[in-house]
Amino acid sequence: MEHSSPSTHGRLVLFNFLHAFILLCMSTCLESSTLRTTTLGNEMDRLVLLDFKKRITEDPLHVMSSWNDSIDLCSWVGVTCNRATKGVVILNLMSQKLVGSLPPSIGNLSHLTGINLIEQL
Ligand SMILES: *[C@@H]1O[C@H](CO)[C@@H](O)[C@H](O)[C@H]1NC(C)=O
Ligand SMILES: *[C@@H]1O[C@H](CO)[C@@H](O)[C@H](O)[C@H]1NC(C)=O
Repeated sequence: MEHSSPSTHGRLVLFNFLHAFILLCMSTCLESSTLRTTTLGNEMDRLVLLDFKKRITEDPLHVMSSWNDSIDLCSWVGVTCNRATKGVVILNLMSQKLVGSLPPSIGNLSHLTGINLIEQL
């Protein structure tokens, strides 16, 4: 047969519908569970970054002003999170002219893979 039978076609439509539903659910249902991990899962990361912020003594470009509780830490300037776990993976504060010291608690950023504090002249 060259054309698919009506029943096959029907199954295909149903499959596509389910597929679309699953995709839709993944972006909305998961969103709420990710939100939950955001508030619980990366609480440690938030505390560490606030510790980091506390030790910044000079911040002429006001980078640290975005590091506040009114926005998610994954949106803070220089912070890159793992999209799934919401853990901080990269801290890129290159050429931000920050002066300060690193807190020992930086070791508590369990997902951190890179940190860039280079000052380009
Ligand atoms: C928090 O950071 C955002 C983004 O930089 C900024 O728009 C907002 O004014 C800041 N809020 C406070 C309370 O500093
Ligand atoms: C981070 O880990 C240290 C031990 O390495 C611990 O003393 C500290 O309380 C932890 N928490 C924070 C938020 O730094």
